[in-house]
Amino acid sequence: MGRATFSFVCQSCGAQARQFFGRCPGCGGWNTLVEQASPPPDGRRRRAPGAAAIGELDARPRRSQPIQAVGERPLARLASGFDELDRVLGGGLVPGSLVLVGGDPGIGKSTLLLQAAQVMARSCSVLYVSAEESAQQVKLRWRRLGPDASPGPEPGSLQLLAETDLELVLQELESLRPAVAIIDSIQALHDAELTSAPGSVAQVRECAAALQRLAKRQDTALLLVGHVTKEGMLAGPKVLEHLVDAVLTFEGDRFASHRLLRAAKNRFGATHELGVFEMRDRGLVEVTNPSELFLGSEGPCAGTATIVACEGTRPLLVELQSLVSGTSYASPRRTATGIGINRLHQILAVLEKHLGLPLSRFDCYLAVAGGLDVEEPAADLGVAAAVVASYRDLTLPAGTVLVGELGLGGQLRPVGQLELRLQEAARLGFHRAVVPRASGLGSLATELDLQVLEAATVADALVAALGVDPAAD
Ligand SMILES: Nc1ncnc2c1ncn2[C@@H]1O[C@H](COP(=O)(O)OP(=O)(O)O)[C@@H](O)[C@H]1O
Ligand SMILES: [Mg+2]
Repeated sequence: MGRATFSFVCQSCGAQARQFFGRCPGCGGWNTLVEQASPPPDGRRRRAPGAAAIGELDARPRRSQPIQAVGERPLARLASGFDELDRVLGGGLVPGSLVLVGGDPGIGKSTLLLQAAQVMARSCSVLYVSAEESAQQVKLRWRRLGPDASPGPEPGSLQLLAETDLELVLQELESLRPAVAIIDSIQALHDAELTSAPGSVAQVRECAAALQRLAKRQDTALLLVGHVTKEGMLAGPKVLEHLVDAVLTFEGDRFASHRLLRAAKNRFGATHELGVFEMRDRGLVEVTNPSELFLGSEGPCAGTATIVACEGTRPLLVELQSLVSGTSYASPRRTATGIGINRLHQILAVLEKHLGLPLSRFDCYLAVAGGLDVEEPAADLGVAAAVVASYRDLTLPAGTVLVGELGLGGQLRPVGQLELRLQEAARLGFHRAVVPRASGLGSLATELDLQVLEAATVADALVAALGVDPAAD
């Protein structure tokens, strides 16, 4: 087989060059050239030994067919051992699927996948490829995570390979044909046919594509670990996002022990599902009642408000804390943690205009307890209540939740999944809810034993929530 010739291809204009240029000779873009392996002259791309010819890849018919005639196979799912992970995946790992797990270094990706591997190895064959750590290091972690001694098939079906060479990894995958393979991490793998450094765009793309071809052919579910790097030098998982079936991001506050797993893309399930874990010294533990995590333990105090955020199908009670104090700056300081700063600015403007509160003379700090990011506008009313409560030094009555989006005209707009949110609030012992005006909540309120206060404007909602008119001097 002839040796492949290499070329560098500009990612924005497609110009080709035989050597690397910092600036594309075609379009003049900076840092756009990426190395690509072009097929050798005999037209055959080298691939893992024994790899089938492209035509055999799958038995896809070459002609179109009526959609009714397309055969259906029920999606089998493998349980990962973590209900939280399974839910984010859409109900479990689909055989033959390619899942990218991204996250900052040290967040716990290796821990999560090794723990899942321990469980999955009881029911199927699992290959764990560690390209970053030696076999001893993985073994040490495996010990620390304490594979539980529960009976089951021998843990021997978890195979470990510490290797960075793509070719060897492909060979091992092909000879073992595991049901699940974990590659930790895709950035550390290295295709010897490319001259670029491991982790570069070209390497990451080539390695992932080669792994995918093999995995799809033999129905191996692949879990790829990818690092998120802020610098442009290392290829982030962005390069891979179009290639894989699901992109999970594992995130968390370095200063807190809980970790959040989200699906940013999922071809086999809904996105915006949220899995919550806690990092302990013996590994990750699922948090089955995350609302408790995001509720302050101190009880209500001035400037706090509780909202019900919805992450996918999952309602979460979250505490918002606000501090409003007179400013000594020419332009007041506004900081928001866990909520977009522009949202905060907008809510403050609505309060200033429609309640007549002179907030532009006050600094305003807002934080979401527990390090969660709340993106949905349903949190608006909670933000407004926390700000007004701090401004007036008021405490919201205990057991109150607030849900509602603020319109720029001061109106309270309806939010989705209101019933789900109220059910969760009632389940956690809340007995008062301030919500946008909606029809048909009466029976639900009785059923849940919840006092539901409906309001059409933010002013009415705050009067209902606080029991006093915040606008009155
Ligand atoms: N010996 C240990 N004891 C307790 N916790 C540890 C130990 N080693 C690692 N950890 C925890 O695991 C985290 C690293 O997890 P890891 O799975 O290696 O992250 P990633 O693969 O995302 O880089 C550390 O931040 C730390 O919290
Ligand atoms: Mg790791």
